[in-house]
Amino acid sequence: MIIKFKLNGKEIVRNVLPHKRAIDFLRDDLGILSIKEGCGEGECGACTILVNGKNVHSCLMLAVELDGKEVISIEGMKDNIIKDAYVEAGAVQCGFCTPGFIISTHALLSKNPEPTDEEIDEALEGNLCRCTGYLKIRDAVKLAAKKLKEKGSDKIDS
Ligand code: FES
Ligand code: FES
Repeated sequence: MIIKFKLNGKEIVRNVLPHKRAIDFLRDDLGILSIKEGCGEGECGACTILVNGKNVHSCLMLAVELDGKEVISIEGMKDNIIKDAYVEAGAVQCGFCTPGFIISTHALLSKNPEPTDEEIDEALEGNLCRCTGYLKIRDAVKLAAKKLKEKGSDKIDS
């Protein structure tokens, strides 16, 4: 099936097999290597991408479901505020989970620029980290929110 969608701002047109997963298509065919496969079952969030502004697990989607959508991976995020906040807060260790967390943080802060701790935990509950601990990740989200506020943008660039 021919699908047409936007990936990180670029129009993509490709013929894909109906049973191919979005994660395999994006990584193997299009070279988007920030998308990681952890569990392959929608539990870990390492494969998270933004689809029409919503964070979703690409291991649970078929490539054909991307048709007509706007897709963003970490490669397509124009500003580095969230990424830098993760580094500054020490919320990165092995980094395997980090792209997924950053995408979910982006989705949260786009809707809610000043989230509470509970809202942060809820927004990130689909992402798992095995090495850093969630307190530093929560700090990173708060730091990113503060920096975005200082920058004065009411909308995050993606
Ligand atoms: S690889 Fe998709 S949620 Fe774990
Ligand atoms: S930083 Fe290693 S799994 Fe999260």
